[in-house]
Amino acid sequence: MLKCITNLAEMQLHAAELKSSGKRIGLVPTMGALHEGHLSLMRHLRQHCDSLWVSIFVNPAQFGPSEDLARYPRTLERDLALCESVGVDGVLHPDPADVYPQDFGTWVVPNEAAGRYCGASRPGHFRGVLTIVLRLFMWTRCDCAIFGRKDAQQLWLIERMVRDLALPVEIHEGDLVREADGLALSSRNAYLSPEQRAHALVLHQALKLACELVEQGEGLEHALREAWQKLRTATGVELEYLHAVDWRTLDSLGEAGRMGLRMHPAVGDTTRLLFLVAARVGQTRLIDNVSVNCKGE
Ligand code: PAJ
Repeated sequence: MLKCITNLAEMQLHAAELKSSGKRIGLVPTMGALHEGHLSLMRHLRQHCDSLWVSIFVNPAQFGPSEDLARYPRTLERDLALCESVGVDGVLHPDPADVYPQDFGTWVVPNEAAGRYCGASRPGHFRGVLTIVLRLFMWTRCDCAIFGRKDAQQLWLIERMVRDLALPVEIHEGDLVREADGLALSSRNAYLSPEQRAHALVLHQALKLACELVEQGEGLEHALREAWQKLRTATGVELEYLHAVDWRTLDSLGEAGRMGLRMHPAVGDTTRLLFLVAARVGQTRLIDNVSVNCKGE
């Protein structure tokens, strides 16, 4: 039977009980409007813990003033049924007023890589993410937690926070789940009209092209140029950024966008390369990425 806790003190008590009975606690942090991407994270972590928890909280602190906080999809009843269907033990669904009381004022300062890519157009976003994630870890006292590769920069920053602050939480990485036609699953896809959804497919197509070119031995600059060409000539898509990134450091090796195409000198050998893209389709901001293993792996 799925337990749903809305009260933070009750969550802490329950977590303490689970701990004292020797249970290994797993946490899947989400903002709800659950889809197959979220469910795949739950199925993965189910294998690594005794008590599996999902948090559903649309975190105001990670939304900018002109972003979609108010209209972000909220589908709690359906979410609870989905959680139950994959064997989740409990859901934490706190009230924003309890999470952020008037006098709340302590924040996590993320690694400086938070200012790049999504962070460049969403100032304060990752500060909001890391702060809630750390607090979710504390409330649930989880031993392990999982984050999707869909949000690659977020995953990298969370892994960095866990390492830098020596948090006793094992972080798992979940593969990016796509629709059959390649569109990355996202709660924000619900905003897309059928026509916009068709336009959005170019994001994955461009990334896949870049990936294939690199795998065929083409230079990174050529791969970026081809992907960029595809994106900037696409209908209904306004490109925010396209970067080739070194996964170890999250440094950009090359980028294409409004400023044209620019390459950056690589430091050391890249073992895993990521192509990251962000674009607007109508009012909806979408992100996607693909990763390529380079020499040595
Ligand atoms: P949300 O967007 O709901 O995503 C919750 C988790 O699901 C994240 O780890 C995200 O990377 C993962 N996810 C989303 N789409 C996915 C897909 N198509 N395939 C695989 N995993 C996917 O990310 C957040 O919420 C918030 O920032 C949060 C971490 C909960 C903090 O508020």
